[in-house]
Amino acid sequence: MHESFAIIGCGKVGVMMGKHLAEAGYRPAGFFSRRASAAGHAARIAGAADACFDNPWDAALQADVVLITTPDHVIEEMCRTIAENNGFRERSVVLHCSGALPSTILSSARSCGAFIGSMHPLQSFAADYPGNPFHQIMMAVEGDEAAVELAQAIAVSLAARPFIIPTEGKVFYHAAAVAASNYLVTLMDLSFRLMALSGVPASDAFAVLKPLIQGTLANIETIGIPDALTGPIARGDIGTVEKHLTAIRQVSSELADRYARLGIDTISIALAKGTLSQEAARQLLELFEYKPSQKKP
Ligand SMILES: NC(=O)c1ccc[n+]([C@@H]2O[C@H](COP(=O)([O-])OP(=O)(O)OC[C@H]3O[C@@H](n4cnc5c(N)ncnc54)[C@H](OP(=O)(O)O)[C@@H]3O)[C@@H](O)[C@H]2O)c1
Repeated sequence: MHESFAIIGCGKVGVMMGKHLAEAGYRPAGFFSRRASAAGHAARIAGAADACFDNPWDAALQADVVLITTPDHVIEEMCRTIAENNGFRERSVVLHCSGALPSTILSSARSCGAFIGSMHPLQSFAADYPGNPFHQIMMAVEGDEAAVELAQAIAVSLAARPFIIPTEGKVFYHAAAVAASNYLVTLMDLSFRLMALSGVPASDAFAVLKPLIQGTLANIETIGIPDALTGPIARGDIGTVEKHLTAIRQVSSELADRYARLGIDTISIALAKGTLSQEAARQLLELFEYKPSQKKP
């Protein structure tokens, strides 16, 4: 017999959680959102149209598991408001889904005898995803033992893959996710813009680069960093890097600066790989740090 659940904050994650928890056999018991229409929508999608409440504490009080899926900056205050109104059942589990924030922002729920935790789906959610957006994604969980146990079970029920992380590590974990996902977009934007300068049509850029990207990802998976690093910086091929920079600077100093910033970070990886000499590293750094206003030495 699965637990009953409440969703507080019925946006992208709340709606998806409600729908798929219900499908997994959890009982939808309470929905609350700032707009009643949003709560109504989430409740209908979860098959419990009559489970909407006018305030968050009445919604939370219906459930063994309370998911606070408001925006991050509202979670702590929302939890305190519910706790101050005795809205959490004793021995219930209160979870939030933020990646950056620790479970301790829910500490006020302990005054009602609830357990606290966080359960972060490592995925980007769009409004109306047709399938199960939790399928096979990683879910970081942390918090009180009882909350972690239940969050892991919920993740498995949603077909996700839970893993435990230290509470104090969450901010770094989230920064790592931003680097891997968001900064990858920034990196691909640089690559596409350089590819456009080559004359390859913009519509073809991704297809042209995709096998190379996949090969690099496979190398990172099998041999790791720094060994997966190849190319002119790893080889210490100063002439090629100089040609790149000269050509890009003639078209766009902004693109050249972006290329150079990543080049500087790449030098230390090449040094760690052991294929770049200290002298070549020094010359590369000089090239990357060169500003057009400076006179060439
Ligand atoms: N989106 C993602 O890709 C993603 C991924 C992983 C984790 N998360 C986490 O999941 C949580 C929810 O994110 P989300 O993307 O689903 O946000 P969202 O789409 O903005 O939904 C949050 C909902 O909370 C409601 N809300 C805002 N202020 C409220 C208040 N004071 N009281 C009650 N309800 C309030 C809003 O409902 P109304 O419409 O009623 O105003 C809004 O629809 C966050 O902790 C976020 O970090 C998000």
